[in-house]
Amino acid sequence: MAGMYEELAEIYERAGFARFSRQMAPHMAGLIRQRAPSAHRICDLACGTGEAAVHLAQQGFDVVGLDASARMLAQARPKAEAAGVHVQWLQADARDFVLQRPVDVVTCMYDALNYLLTEDDLLSAFRAVQGCLQPGGLFIFDMNTRGGLAEKWGTDERVETPEEDLCVIWQSAYDHETDVNTVVLTAFVRERGGLFRRIREVHRERGYPVTRVRALLDAAGLRVVALGDVDLRPLQPDTDRFLCVAERPPA
Ligand SMILES: C[S@@+](CC[C@H](N)C(=O)[O-])C[C@H]1O[C@@H](n2cnc3c(N)ncnc32)[C@H](O)[C@@H]1O
Repeated sequence: MAGMYEELAEIYERAGFARFSRQMAPHMAGLIRQRAPSAHRICDLACGTGEAAVHLAQQGFDVVGLDASARMLAQARPKAEAAGVHVQWLQADARDFVLQRPVDVVTCMYDALNYLLTEDDLLSAFRAVQGCLQPGGLFIFDMNTRGGLAEKWGTDERVETPEEDLCVIWQSAYDHETDVNTVVLTAFVRERGGLFRRIREVHRERGYPVTRVRALLDAAGLRVVALGDVDLRPLQPDTDRFLCVAERPPA
């Protein structure tokens, strides 16, 4: 079985997984303009196949796209070339990265931070973000809530056929003891010769109480300035994803 976001990288777009950041990217660009009008340099953390990073570069921002997966970055590179924009792609771990130059904003989309399964890992990522932000810089990210992982993802099994030549099977199981949802993704993709090849990856996401996320941001030297649903409206008991804007306090 492949590690995470290895074989899946090649079908990430075709399976529809880039849809979220395609919708989120313009919203994110708007938030950046509204909350950090002088921002120019951005790092999109866990950028995946680069959907949002390329969009932000098209909007005139100077963008670094960082991800742990070389194969996701390999999907991202030609997108920037096709769009005629420059993005600096960086393969690194969100828990331990440094940038050559500080940035004004770090973004992180589509619950990538839920992939960090311990509070220590989440704190390390927040510290790395704090370390690469200019004083006064913003960290804008979304995460699945615990309820979202327990109820919306829940314990489920479904089959999707986004294309005739591609079938994706999703099997999720939520563990209430650990707040971790384990998803087994199995895909069958038709090869040139007509035969189907199987791809299988196991993904784990942990749901954190929002109060713990706030405390860890605080411990990393980041101050929450806004937190709500993806439109920053107040959280409700059934909110499945939250968006947070945190600031590295000005010097
Ligand atoms: C759900 S995808 C989101 C990708 C992209 N942000 C999007 O919106 O499409 C999660 C991404 O997080 C990356 N990732 C997971 N753990 C990581 C880590 N520790 N450091 C850097 N990237 C990581 C994966 O490689 C994957 O590209």
